[in-house]
Amino acid sequence: MEPAETLLRTLLLIDTFIPIFFRSGKSLLCLELTLNYFRHFAIILVGYIGQTRKEDAMDARYATKTPTRDYPSLARKNWSLWDVMYARRSHRKYIQGEPPADLFPSMLNLIELSAKARKSSQRSIHLITRKQEIEELVRRSCRGITNMINRWMLKSPIFGLLVISIPEKDLIRERPRGISQIIMTAEDCVLFLTERKVGSCWLGAINRNEVRDFMRLDKEKVTPLMICMGHPKQRTKSPDVDYLLYRSLSRKRKPLSSIAHDGIYGKPYAVQDLKVSSITPAARQDVESLLQSMYNQDYQVCDASLELIIESCLEAARIAPSAGNQQEWNFIVVTETKTIEKVREACGGRHSWRAAIIGSAPETGLESLLLDRPFWVIDLSIAFSHMTLMAASMNCAHELCVQDIDEVTVGKLAGLPSKIRTLGVLGIL
Ligand SMILES: Cc1cc2nc3c(=O)[nH]c(=O)nc-3n(C[C@H](O)[C@H](O)[C@H](O)COP(=O)(O)O)c2cc1C
Repeated sequence: MEPAETLLRTLLLIDTFIPIFFRSGKSLLCLELTLNYFRHFAIILVGYIGQTRKEDAMDARYATKTPTRDYPSLARKNWSLWDVMYARRSHRKYIQGEPPADLFPSMLNLIELSAKARKSSQRSIHLITRKQEIEELVRRSCRGITNMINRWMLKSPIFGLLVISIPEKDLIRERPRGISQIIMTAEDCVLFLTERKVGSCWLGAINRNEVRDFMRLDKEKVTPLMICMGHPKQRTKSPDVDYLLYRSLSRKRKPLSSIAHDGIYGKPYAVQDLKVSSITPAARQDVESLLQSMYNQDYQVCDASLELIIESCLEAARIAPSAGNQQEWNFIVVTETKTIEKVREACGGRHSWRAAIIGSAPETGLESLLLDRPFWVIDLSIAFSHMTLMAASMNCAHELCVQDIDEVTVGKLAGLPSKIRTLGVLGIL
């Protein structure tokens, strides 16, 4: 770790503890502080070791969010979805200001449209916009040892929150149901906010009981995640949580060769020289229009090669956000006709596919362990939101299967180790 980064991390710890320490002398709080200190320390240590190992294992030069290739230059017209996807990052510092006029009504429309396109439950995403409610919700969501990491929110003038609620039984099932679609809708909202230059951040470290009680939801519901939004403060090199996490997380992404596999798990996907002529992307590249085409299944002519479609979808997944930036996902690209057919049958695909991308991840990870959420499902669903929007941006008809798939058969066809679960398969039509 660079000395500057060590200093910044230390300052982050101090920033978290000192104010609370001075506010109260209660012994319980001191105990909580001590435990929290160790938790921070453990996260930093594990993150650091993990990062170093990963960087050793791959080539550190490629562990960045730098585009794998200049995709927009391959298009005849504006392929601007890329700009939005690369511009999106988690913001943890905001400035005062009113939300853009019409933001909330158009966001509610977007949620409705996305829920239809993704077959998710629109009632699972709650938009909170009243100042007092936001303040109270932020205060309550940070309660508890594991959630203090988000205390930066207390100092931030956030102007909106999205709260995700789902039936608890769906969260703890062996194979969580229905969450994927809801998470995809939530990530659609994140990209929609990015288009409007509104900053946002996914929040997993929240006190879900406090949030559920505040929302007056019944006890069968859980609120595993929130997304905050506001006017992002321009990044400066000041030792604050936003800059620290931007440096250590936002800029870092695994290369395609370590998250994608060619035909079978373990055979790295190789980024090749593409023989591409210019492609014609969808005329309207905004998230709303893309969701509309997905919902209507109405695309213009797709002139992108299969190789470019696959690589673009993988790249869109690569730059998606994941809890703690773990990027534990694996995408297995299947292009062999017979195997495609078997995969399609195993997940109930209704159309004929030219290729399949299987999305899998290990069920447990550091974040899941600490926060007790199925992050393998959550992170992969976010990636699927990016992949499907990217396919639509190339006018590429596709079919995403996440419900009722025969996980064992798909796992065998992809050569997945038993600890790696498959969430869904994207079929390219
Ligand atoms: C499901 C999920 C939960 C997250 N929870 C938190 C959180 O509680 N606090 C936080 O500051 N960031 C949180 N993040 C943001 C991630 O740390 C961030 O997405 C990741 O480091 C990649 O950075 P980027 O979003 O800037 O590209 C979360 C992200 C996801 C996808």
